[in-house]
Amino acid sequence: MDLYTILREAHSGWRYLVFLLLAAVIVKYVIGWLQKGQWTGLDRRLGLFTTITVDIQLVLGLVVWGMLPMQPYYDQLEAGFRRIQMMEHPAIMLVAIAVMHVGWVLGRKAPVDATKFRNGALTFIVTGLLIAVGVALITGFM
Ligand code: HEM
Repeated sequence: MDLYTILREAHSGWRYLVFLLLAAVIVKYVIGWLQKGQWTGLDRRLGLFTTITVDIQLVLGLVVWGMLPMQPYYDQLEAGFRRIQMMEHPAIMLVAIAVMHVGWVLGRKAPVDATKFRNGALTFIVTGLLIAVGVALITGFM
């Protein structure tokens, strides 16, 4: 396997960890929000690990993005799919990641625990939906 394929496979497979953590953090925060729970170190760490995991996905994505045009078969890719690979998928994912970072800061800095849970839950729900659309686009589920 060449380096590009290894990195693309890593970028592709990493999504499962991303979805797992997003699901866990959303469930945890929605429960905290509805039950007016207390924000603990575990909640902070769960959100932090989720953002770090998505950031690792971003780094892999940026590398794959930079390398794809150098692949010998690049010019033979079907134009519509190449647009998804090079523009639509990266754009939607960059928006998702920007939303996640802004929302995460606003979430954890909120003065009241219930607001932290609410902002955090809404942030990761929107992020998760955008990422799901971005994955669906590139895997052909849309
Ligand atoms: C959470 C964010 C992301 C997820 C879950 C994700 C997931 C995926 C998946 C599942 C594929 C298909 C891989 C395959 O066909 O083997 C893919 C391809 C790709 N991703 Fe992402 N991605 C994310 C973010 C990004 C970002 C931010 C960029 C660039 C800035 C990017 C660039 C690419 C490129 C260029 C491909 C095409 C690779 C190819 O077909 O050779 N991705 N991504």
